Amino acid sequence: MPDAARLWGEAMSALSVAMHDGVAVVTFDLPGEPVNKFSPAVIAEFTAVFEQLEHDRSVVAAVLISGKSDTFIAGADIDQFLEFTSSADATRASAAGHAMMQRLEQGRVPWVAAINGACLGGGLEASLACAYRIAGDSPRTVLALPEVQLGLIPGAGGTQRLPRTVGLQVALDMILTGKNVRARKALQTGLVDEMVHPNILRDVAIARARELGSGTLARRRARKGGIKGALLENNPVGRAVVFRQARAMTLKKSRGHYPALLAALDAVAAGYRGPAADGFAAEARLFGEMAFTAVSKQLIFLFYATTSLKKDLGVRGDAAATAKPVAVRKIGVLGTGFMGAGIAAISAMQGVAVRFKDTKHAPVAKGLLAVRDVLKDRLAKKQITRQQFEDQLSLVSGTVDYTGFSNVPLLIEAVFEDLAVKHAVLREAEAVLPPGAIVATNTSTIPIHRIAEASRDASRVVGMHFFSPVHKMPLLEVIVTPRTAPDVVATTVAFGRALGKTVIVVNDAPGFYVNRILAPYLNEAGKLLDEGARIEAIDTAMLDYGFPVGPVTLLDEVGLDVAGKSGAIMAAAFGDRLQPSTTLSRVLAAGRLGRKGKQGFYRYDEKGKKGGVDETVYAMTPTGSSRIEVSAADIQERLALAMVNEAVRCVEEGILRAPRDGDIGAVFGIGFPPFRGGPLRVADTIGAAALVTRLEALNARFPGRFEPAKLLREMAGSGATFYPRTGKPV
Ligand code: COA
Repeated sequence: MPDAARLWGEAMSALSVAMHDGVAVVTFDLPGEPVNKFSPAVIAEFTAVFEQLEHDRSVVAAVLISGKSDTFIAGADIDQFLEFTSSADATRASAAGHAMMQRLEQGRVPWVAAINGACLGGGLEASLACAYRIAGDSPRTVLALPEVQLGLIPGAGGTQRLPRTVGLQVALDMILTGKNVRARKALQTGLVDEMVHPNILRDVAIARARELGSGTLARRRARKGGIKGALLENNPVGRAVVFRQARAMTLKKSRGHYPALLAALDAVAAGYRGPAADGFAAEARLFGEMAFTAVSKQLIFLFYATTSLKKDLGVRGDAAATAKPVAVRKIGVLGTGFMGAGIAAISAMQGVAVRFKDTKHAPVAKGLLAVRDVLKDRLAKKQITRQQFEDQLSLVSGTVDYTGFSNVPLLIEAVFEDLAVKHAVLREAEAVLPPGAIVATNTSTIPIHRIAEASRDASRVVGMHFFSPVHKMPLLEVIVTPRTAPDVVATTVAFGRALGKTVIVVNDAPGFYVNRILAPYLNEAGKLLDEGARIEAIDTAMLDYGFPVGPVTLLDEVGLDVAGKSGAIMAAAFGDRLQPSTTLSRVLAAGRLGRKGKQGFYRYDEKGKKGGVDETVYAMTPTGSSRIEVSAADIQERLALAMVNEAVRCVEEGILRAPRDGDIGAVFGIGFPPFRGGPLRVADTIGAAALVTRLEALNARFPGRFEPAKLLREMAGSGATFYPRTGKPV
């Protein structure tokens, strides 16, 4: 097959062109990169191809296909965004994207996009500019415009072409969430025109291209929006309703913290108002503006931080060379409670066999039902087929003895939070486990080295702190002691990642990392209650700061008994700084457990649904029925800075291996506002010197609770930051 790129005399690196009887198959395969990305150099290559296609009359149509197995195109090269020096730069880059997509759409020959793997951002925008789109029927094929997740808006025509293709409502849902759409769903909504097995994708694409070229296939199909959608959207009044609702919903959900959401709405709306060119111009301008927001800077940081964690097995230095992770295909889970069931369920989802043990049949049966519920939910949401559901369920087998444990390479213990109980089950299990098996403990409060004291080999013991509910929470905190062997760390991290978790590795210390920084934050909320602050004032202030739930609600959610127990452990470890609030102690002593007991700081109905504040709880505060007004700004300053200062201490004490892990842990484990980047990013944003000043002011008001971390004082002196000031943040 002649290579047209060479034939046409162009030396290309990312694109290669092969001719198939009048159809030019353009393969995008960026050399030396795991994914295809658009950059000015790649756009220049496309432009050269367009030029040739305009002139070579032997070509009737073209196919755009990827040479990578897992990705079609991952969008614009995010690295390039770091090089913009002004909004005008970014607007120009967007205009260059528009010019390219326009040629794809309006050139002499029609294009077919043959999409297999991730088709994101600019990748989807290029596909939308093609005359026909075919998706490979594979779980790897996902289509999305994820720009808002980076604090940006689609910049290569997505806000204009997507609504025209799938209708306004479906488009807004995709653009405002950035969510992935799988191939089947894409077919249903008209995002793609056809879905085929990946093995025949290329051939079918060539055939369709030829049909398009000869006119036997129409260039663009009517969009499939459904009658209801069309009735609402096909007139200005209906569209105004859709935009108004979307705007109100966006503001409510984002509390105004994500400017790109409103900018995306504005760009889409501009496309309906006047000539097409105005819509594109609005998109380019707004893209430029968004590329320079503080929010986008933090969200892009989170992208890089998450990506870099994917490659980090938690072992550094000489040990990294020898610490090879072992693939785990079978595990034992001890304890069939809520956490154990969650762990068993997500393991089965990944094809891992689970021996699921408790002491009696009744809790085992209950645990198996809980596993079934998690899997059933996936089936109901059509994330898995009935066959997959059955297969996954059959991977989990219950037991009340240790049969089937003699060949598990990894045991995860999720029994009651009591050292003696944990020691007992560990001894029992190790009598059966094969030599070298890893013993992971899912504790949230007990030091791992204490649990390891009962082990035959402490080097095989590691902490795996899952968050509840396990199948929903994205973070896994792996805790290592000075004795944990490097291969144990690597295998545990790799296993956590295979379960779909974002994994941070931290050193063993009271509260590990996530609960350590949560403790002063929640404690400060308790102190505010002691002073007479209103519950709603505290929760609303922190929702406004950007947390997904307020701290008092969070106390009710985690359970007041659990909060009390972990508070006591933290107080024992850190003394005065973390003395529990009088209010929490009294509310707990009164027998209130929070949501699970249907009585806490808030009211709950029979089904556990949260109502308003339970005013009777105020009688248990030191100020009784008298309340004081505390400003939202003051509440935010106290709670947020308590957490930030503690995160800095975790860097200082070596609990964290990198600031990156501290920020990812806070965002993914606690819901620290992503647009702020994380507590250590906040420290950098404020600046160490200014932060010390603010903490000292708080410490003067509340002696002992806000003493600035030593490291922070040093950084204030040297002007150091946790992250580089320019270039890639991690
Ligand atoms: N720009 C720059 N680099 C990108 C990129 C992009 N759009 N998409 C992926 N990469 C890089 C990653 O940074 C990583 O680089 P590294 O190897 O130097 O660390 C590499 O490609 C592999 O990505 P990774 O995320 O580790 O692979 P994956 O297979 O788990 O996921 C994707 C692949 C494409 C699904 C994922 O990387 C992704 O979601 N990318 C971002 C897409 C996006 O937001 N596009 C819109 C841009 S406006």
